[in-house]
Amino acid sequence: MTPMRLSVNVDHVATLRNARGGAFPCPVEAARVAVEAGADGITVHLREDRRHIRDRDVERIGAEAATRLNLEMAATEEMVGIACRLRPAACCLVPEKRQELTTEGGLDVLRAGPFLGEAVRRLAGAGIEVSVFVEAEAAQIEACARLGAQAVELHTGAYADAESSGRAPHLARLRAGAAAARGAGLLCHAGHGLTYESLGPVAAMPEVVEVSIGHFLIGQSVFEGLPAVVRRMRAVIAEARAG
Ligand code: PXP
Repeated sequence: MTPMRLSVNVDHVATLRNARGGAFPCPVEAARVAVEAGADGITVHLREDRRHIRDRDVERIGAEAATRLNLEMAATEEMVGIACRLRPAACCLVPEKRQELTTEGGLDVLRAGPFLGEAVRRLAGAGIEVSVFVEAEAAQIEACARLGAQAVELHTGAYADAESSGRAPHLARLRAGAAAARGAGLLCHAGHGLTYESLGPVAAMPEVVEVSIGHFLIGQSVFEGLPAVVRRMRAVIAEARAG
């Protein structure tokens, strides 16, 4: 099976830092530690309101973390400008609402305005791999391919949040979504809400080449330490990929 990347989302390290208004704990340092422990990439979400990650964090992680940087962002003129200037390896376009606690659902590509296509074109033109965060629905995924995106990130939130006994239909939907992505010629990523327990079945999907994990991973680091959690996540992936 193709290898799967673990991209560690360090947004919540910035949330903790911002709670005291100082420089500690530093998301750039967290990115460095995660990469040293085996993370294959770092994800940050630069929100319009800068509630966690700030522009300088993105610049520094891009320059200092020596890894694949995935910049999550809304498809806005401001964010496209920042991404084209910083040129991270990858951008993931997400829907963004100011009041939400976290990204609440996939982007509705079918109903998006013309700027989404322009954003994809400009980012891809800057040499950035563009993915779009979507629900695992064939019509949404195929629309991403028509826009010229190279990848989709399937929203795993409903699957991960369901009781274990109720996960089968969600998993079936994700599997169909991963197959639709492959059918449309897109790379397939996945993320949202994943934990030690829910990661395995997603990591076992051969089409999924990257998972992006933040909240559980950073939260569990309080108990186990960030390097240990990254190593354990990598072990879950290795076991699932081995079949
Ligand atoms: N992927 C996307 C597009 C997200 O918005 C988020 C949340 O920032 C994640 C993955 C990671 O989700 P979680 O923090 O629940 O692991």
